[in-house]
Amino acid sequence: MSEHVHVVPLHSISVTEADAWHRVVAASMAHDVPAVPPPSPERIQAQLTKPSLNSHRLTWLATGPDGSPVGVAGLRLFTSSGRDHLAELELHVDPAYRRLGTGSLLLSKVVAACRAEDRRSLIVEVAADSPGEAFCERRNFRQALALNHLILRLDQSDEATVLRVAEAEHPGYRLTGWTGTVPDDLAAAFATAKNAMNDMPVGDLDYGTEEWDADRVRAMAQVIADRGDTLLTLAAVHDDGAMAGYTEILLPQGAVTRAQQYDTAVVPAHRGHGLGLWLKTAMVRRLRAEHPRVVEIETDCAEANVHMLAVNHALGFRSYRRTREFQLDVPVG
Ligand SMILES: CC(C)(COP(=O)(O)OP(=O)(O)OC[C@H]1O[C@@H](n2cnc3c(N)ncnc32)[C@H](O)[C@@H]1OP(=O)(O)O)[C@@H](O)C(=O)NCCC(=O)NCCS
Repeated sequence: MSEHVHVVPLHSISVTEADAWHRVVAASMAHDVPAVPPPSPERIQAQLTKPSLNSHRLTWLATGPDGSPVGVAGLRLFTSSGRDHLAELELHVDPAYRRLGTGSLLLSKVVAACRAEDRRSLIVEVAADSPGEAFCERRNFRQALALNHLILRLDQSDEATVLRVAEAEHPGYRLTGWTGTVPDDLAAAFATAKNAMNDMPVGDLDYGTEEWDADRVRAMAQVIADRGDTLLTLAAVHDDGAMAGYTEILLPQGAVTRAQQYDTAVVPAHRGHGLGLWLKTAMVRRLRAEHPRVVEIETDCAEANVHMLAVNHALGFRSYRRTREFQLDVPVG
């Protein structure tokens, strides 16, 4: 049937096209990852139309013979110098139209775009043991990283433990926090600490590195605010002024009750002092106090990242699903 499917690139995305995109993604996620709430139409609209930081997006829509949307593909092309070899795929086919070649047709457009854009690596995250994984294996992707997704129910985390850990003394360090853009006096130290994320385990992914400076951390906060989301940060600052570590939580726009963990990093020189658990526990307290609507936090973590997993388990996070990152080494020619 793929000969009856029509694929078009989308340029300036209309409300109707964003709506079609949302319908395909929502149907696909309800089928493959029913425990994961699909993004709202507003979030899809923002994702498709608002700029991201140091990347741009190409998009395609597949429609059936009657013009109804059956599949979507998005390609995020990173533009910063350490990551301009890389592209990230999002691909969904409506469950009612699968195994008819639509996914393969969309992928062929994506691979051609990767070549035209000089990308050697195409990565995609799929649910473990899902149709997406079978598709990746069939289409010559290789598995590069296994991820564990965990959930912390804030009403089930142990209040006494949270209090004890959050209020524990860490001589030489103090906690500070902000919403949105980092205060000017911390911006340079924050950028230095963000570079610590570059040694996060990425398995066999050809992930490259990201170099942060003060302007870039401000630009990232602006992109998130423009999308309508809220970024909360807590940081541990050493007496010498260096930022020893930080943790970030994203509150998606709208009446969403699930917060997303973004980065948590402790700078190598400050590891082994319990700062990761301290920061994350203090964030739980902050969420309970300032954002009582939030009832749970989702995080993901490489299965090989035993230290971060131990911190998460100590805080009460429980495994909830597994995903895998696949990589296609883009064929030349
Ligand atoms: C992955 C996905 C996009 C595939 O879409 P599709 O239109 O069904 O893909 P195709 O028809 O082109 O499938 C191509 C080949 O992949 C393999 N494949 C796809 N789905 C499969 C499944 N459920 N079980 C086993 N093999 C599968 C088959 O070899 C298939 O060829 P065949 O049907 O001739 O046997 C779709 O299942 C989906 O939307 N999944 C959820 C989102 C997701 O995981 N996205 C990431 C994908 S990289």
